[in-house]
Amino acid sequence: MSFKEQLPTYDLAGKVAVVTGAGKGIGFEVAGVLAAAGAKVVIADLKQEVCDEAALKLKSEGYEAIGIAADVSSKNSAKELAEKTVSSYGSLDILINNAGVTIPESPIFDVTEEQWDFVHNVDLKGLYFTSQVIAEKMKQLGNGGRIVNLTSAAGIMTPKYVSVYGAAKAAVKHLTGIMAKEWARWGINVNAVAPGYVNTDMLKPMLENEKNAQVVLKSIPMRRYGEVKDVAGVILFLVSEASNYLTGVIIPIDGGMMA
Ligand SMILES: NC(=O)c1ccc[n+]([C@@H]2O[C@H](COP(=O)([O-])OP(=O)(O)OC[C@H]3O[C@@H](n4cnc5c(N)ncnc54)[C@H](O)[C@@H]3O)[C@@H](O)[C@H]2O)c1
Repeated sequence: MSFKEQLPTYDLAGKVAVVTGAGKGIGFEVAGVLAAAGAKVVIADLKQEVCDEAALKLKSEGYEAIGIAADVSSKNSAKELAEKTVSSYGSLDILINNAGVTIPESPIFDVTEEQWDFVHNVDLKGLYFTSQVIAEKMKQLGNGGRIVNLTSAAGIMTPKYVSVYGAAKAAVKHLTGIMAKEWARWGINVNAVAPGYVNTDMLKPMLENEKNAQVVLKSIPMRRYGEVKDVAGVILFLVSEASNYLTGVIIPIDGGMMA
């Protein structure tokens, strides 16, 4: 075979991808990039109208997308998402575990039980059971699959005042390896990306504090915040044939911050 013939492609024609938390931010960008690469995309977010609006934007560019409301913190809702995806598109090949929430930076002494549950129900429990039910579906369908988890630099480094979110994201990093090992036998690759600071609504409260924003910027060798497309490009690689032999890895996307 010539090198030209061996050149990996990012073509996702025939693949069905579920992106959680795809109503806006990183998730919406990832949904758009996967759709542009040829995948049929399911936009999953809390509100049906938000999902529909996002799907409509992709359709208006000529791509295939539908919106299915789902709350990842409920296993039943995740199960329904898997069922509806397969009944709508006949397959389920890619899961992007992107839905996530955080709380304002606070010292451990000030954190409440409600804040802990709010973050961990979505970022950890939600990711866990969404992966469980969707990997089970992939196993039944027998075509393998790709799962990409969104962890964070906050789950690798140990920044002060980010204990709740940091602990959830550290657990996601840990789970990525375990899921990769358990599901490799069914051809399901599980990897994670660990963004640093990406310009979305989630980052807004942090950037509003000008002094804080300057300190953060100085910690990034590339001297800029990440853009959503910086994350989407790496995720596209992780669901493409270019990464066929990759599983259980965590890829930082942070402008060199953790180097
Ligand atoms: N922005 C950053 O700097 C950054 C850095 C590292 C990691 N991340 C991670 O990337 C992911 C996306 O972050 P973002 O910055 O785009 O956030 P965002 O706040 O812009 O978007 C998050 C989306 O998730 C949805 N969502 C929240 N709870 C949900 C639930 N229970 N079920 C389904 N959907 C739900 C929201 O409605 C929203 O559309 C998150 O997992 C986040 O932790 C972000």
